[in-house]
Amino acid sequence: MALVTSKRILDDASARGYAVGAFNVNNLEFAKAVMGAAQEANSPVIIQASEGAVSYAGVRQMVAMVRSLAEDTDVPVVLHLDHGRSFDTIVQCIRHGFTSVMIDGSHLPFDENVAITKKVVEVAHAAGVSVEAELGRLAGIEDIVAVSEREAALTDPDEARAFVEQTGCDALAVAIGTSHGPRKFKGEPVLAVDLVEKIKEQVRIPLVLHGASGVSTEVVQIGERYGARWAGSKGIPDQAIVEVIRRGINKINIDTDMRLAFVASIRETLATKPELLDPRDLMRPAIAAIKKVATGKMQLFGSAGMAADMM
Ligand code: G3H
Ligand code: 13P
Ligand code: ZN
Repeated sequence: MALVTSKRILDDASARGYAVGAFNVNNLEFAKAVMGAAQEANSPVIIQASEGAVSYAGVRQMVAMVRSLAEDTDVPVVLHLDHGRSFDTIVQCIRHGFTSVMIDGSHLPFDENVAITKKVVEVAHAAGVSVEAELGRLAGIEDIVAVSEREAALTDPDEARAFVEQTGCDALAVAIGTSHGPRKFKGEPVLAVDLVEKIKEQVRIPLVLHGASGVSTEVVQIGERYGARWAGSKGIPDQAIVEVIRRGINKINIDTDMRLAFVASIRETLATKPELLDPRDLMRPAIAAIKKVATGKMQLFGSAGMAADMM
């Protein structure tokens, strides 16, 4: 299938109450693993590349790789720019064939975030490309002690409404206490799950959760057994994911869980099969490990089986 926009699949997810996994890729191994999982699970999927991934792989190479893999699958696939901050990079991605972009102005004052997001929406929509924007700051709630600071970091529902009305963005990333990477909480996980419902009531468009990796203890242990130093790793419990989807999250970003699975697998193979020389013998089990992560997420998010009768 040809690449589709994220609006196309996220509006369906919002209408039918499920979430689509957005998986970060840098190379062929990750892209093949995620796409293979989507094909087998009959799930729509978002392949996303950060600005770092685009510069690592090359923008033309990234588009050619994902487009050709998508053409060989029967499920809807989106190619999305994750955390776009540079207007030039966003325009490059649109020009070369990305079907969705994120403008991350979350670090800017409200008015500046509105202005840059509006500018990106104009360019992207003219090219038939969807836009995700972000309001609020990703940070673990427990790390922010002062109540006023906590409120400033989390997404405010009234501000979200004004932001979406003023910018015309297609999806909104919200801050409810998640953060990027493997160390999301020092103590028990705390998330403002009820905030999702309040924001959704105000904006109605698909909502996005960043920093959503579960950080499997089992995978962390495998990595550590073979030399990784991943002490203090803690992610988002599956139950919290189910709750935020029920309240209106429709796109869930996953990078760390695949990084952990990939590195743990490579470490295990190198340690247990010292005679190996062919890189493909290292990559095959690593691809399988990433695919297992992606398949589990598609089941957890409720997107498995949804490609068949999308609206
Ligand atoms: O949110 C960021 C993603 O995990 C991508 O990370 O910028 O290292 O590619 P990256
Ligand atoms: P994780 O680090 O929790 O996988 O989050 C990834 C993400 O939000 C990418 O934009
Ligand atoms: Zn993110």
